[in-house]
Amino acid sequence: NTIYVLNGPNLNLLGIREPETYGHATLADVEKLCAAAAAQYGLTADCRQSNSEGELIGYIHQAREKHVVGIVINGGAYSHTSIALHDAIVGVRIPTVEVHVSNVYTRESFRHHSFIAKAAFASLCGFGIEGYRLAISGLAAKIGANAI
Ligand code: DQA
Repeated sequence: NTIYVLNGPNLNLLGIREPETYGHATLADVEKLCAAAAAQYGLTADCRQSNSEGELIGYIHQAREKHVVGIVINGGAYSHTSIALHDAIVGVRIPTVEVHVSNVYTRESFRHHSFIAKAAFASLCGFGIEGYRLAISGLAAKIGANAI
């Protein structure tokens, strides 16, 4: 059973970009954490990052073709702009959790609205990279994947 962990634009710079906001952990750290968290529920985390909106949409479509059982997505700034990502998530009907590393609600107002949130069954923000673990745990509960 595979889940996709999708990270959007600029998340390849985790650990380098604005560490006061996003912390010092890298994307590689996130992906390691996700693999370990998923394994606790007998799931395999397939982690992808792209700076391109179209490529992220392609991964979401591919998730359906590959019978992926859930998606964790940090859409980065596309969360706040992309109706296309919203439509892709709604279109594939795969249970999806939105994650943001930072607490978007304590930041600029342009980060307070998310199109992805409307398509996801749950959203998490402000837990740093721990949010990915929480998202996988919540996703596992949602799809009935039990801890092993
Ligand atoms: C982010 C929050 C977004 O507003 C921002 O554009 C990002 C990262 C987060 O993980 O906190 O790129 O998604």
